[in-house]
Amino acid sequence: MKQLTTTLFAAALSLAPASLLAEPAAPAAAEKKAEKKADFEVTVTCNDQMQFDKKAIEVPAGKVVKLTLKNVGKVPKIAMGHNFVLLKKGTDLTAWAMKAMTAKPTDYMPTAEADKKAIIAHTKLLGPGEEDSITFTIKEAGDYEYLCSFPGHFALMKGKITAK
Ligand code: CO
Repeated sequence: MKQLTTTLFAAALSLAPASLLAEPAAPAAAEKKAEKKADFEVTVTCNDQMQFDKKAIEVPAGKVVKLTLKNVGKVPKIAMGHNFVLLKKGTDLTAWAMKAMTAKPTDYMPTAEADKKAIIAHTKLLGPGEEDSITFTIKEAGDYEYLCSFPGHFALMKGKITAK
């Protein structure tokens, strides 16, 4: 019996790397679904220098926007994770980011109802080489702020989406 247990344990261990490898397939599937409906598409990259490649993005108001975030860095997620969080108009970005940075168990997405309500859309937290796509529609024309909610990043990693 002991031998069987050992064998099963070894089998479980050998399965682990495969399940880890399978993970990046999930965003690709989500991407396919989103692609059909999008009226407008934009790609944003982020890197180890804590920067988005775009500080301002213009999108059509009332249209389905597909935004893809790509982490082109090499530093592990635990030290240099990135996400893209788009906030509703009138949200205090700094106050929101301060709450987000304490929410480590949820990948720095705050869990309080009021803070969740302030979000229009957000990607998952990305490690090096990963990407994620989100789709959203901004009905009301105007300026909307976005940020990376990883602790300490929002000072550099923020920008503005203008819906026209
Ligand atoms: Co970041």
